[in-house]
Amino acid sequence: MVELSLPQNSRIGKGQVWPTPAGAGNIREIQIYRWNPDDGKNPRVDTYFIDLDDCGPMILDGLIKIKNEIDPTLTFRRSCREGICGSCAMNIDGTNTLACTKGFDEVKGVVKIYPLPHQKVVKDLIPDLTNFYAQHASIEPWLQTKSPEPQTEWLQSHEDREQLDGLYECILCACCSTSCPSYWWNSDRYLGPAVLLQAYRWLADSRDEATGERLDNLEDPFRLYRCHTIMSCAQACPKGLNPAKAIAEIKKMMVERRV
Ligand code: SF4
Ligand code: SF4
Ligand code: FES
Repeated sequence: MVELSLPQNSRIGKGQVWPTPAGAGNIREIQIYRWNPDDGKNPRVDTYFIDLDDCGPMILDGLIKIKNEIDPTLTFRRSCREGICGSCAMNIDGTNTLACTKGFDEVKGVVKIYPLPHQKVVKDLIPDLTNFYAQHASIEPWLQTKSPEPQTEWLQSHEDREQLDGLYECILCACCSTSCPSYWWNSDRYLGPAVLLQAYRWLADSRDEATGERLDNLEDPFRLYRCHTIMSCAQACPKGLNPAKAIAEIKKMMVERRV
């Protein structure tokens, strides 16, 4: 049997246990992955206790409370705090999701928080999404037309507009791609569910006139065809979208243009 050994510095050690707040009545334990590239130490898991009677209801509220009141070195991304910007995506209780829309009441027992899996870590809960964004840029995510520019608003029928439902809502949080086993192992060549859903968003747009070029760009054993319909992506999406279905639609378009 093949024996695999992890590099020494990939082991996650026990971290600091921070004090329980005095006089608190509704204590919740939160364990958080910590890694600082500047201190030369291995990653660790720190343990914090917060009083939920003195905290907002969402996991992001807890993280902000910890940063403001207990440990200002804790590092994470967030912006909108309402599920729109996608920046607070992380792994909570074993699932990739948005910290701002995940409630404490949805997690039983200790709340365990890690960065999105299988990405390099910049620091603590911040994944390095450089490759993810480069892949998004590679599908040229903007409307491309060849017809002369219309002089008025470029109208779409209601039916054509409805084709974008389930696609335009994607906030590029990367929860789906980082839960996809095919993306874990081949993220250098496979575009992954988020970027392929975005690719289909432009293929499905009745106003776009670069369909052939877009399909040519995806016709590749890795970029598109590494999806094996495992469906982890659809389960992970915090916006309720189905990237696997979008990928299947692209594969259908590939077949249809051959006949
Ligand atoms: S269905 Fe495809 S994209 Fe979605 S998790 Fe599975 S392999 Fe990845
Ligand atoms: S499809 Fe869902 S999980 Fe994937 S990037 Fe878009 S919003 Fe996030
Ligand atoms: S902070 Fe914007 S999606 Fe969570």
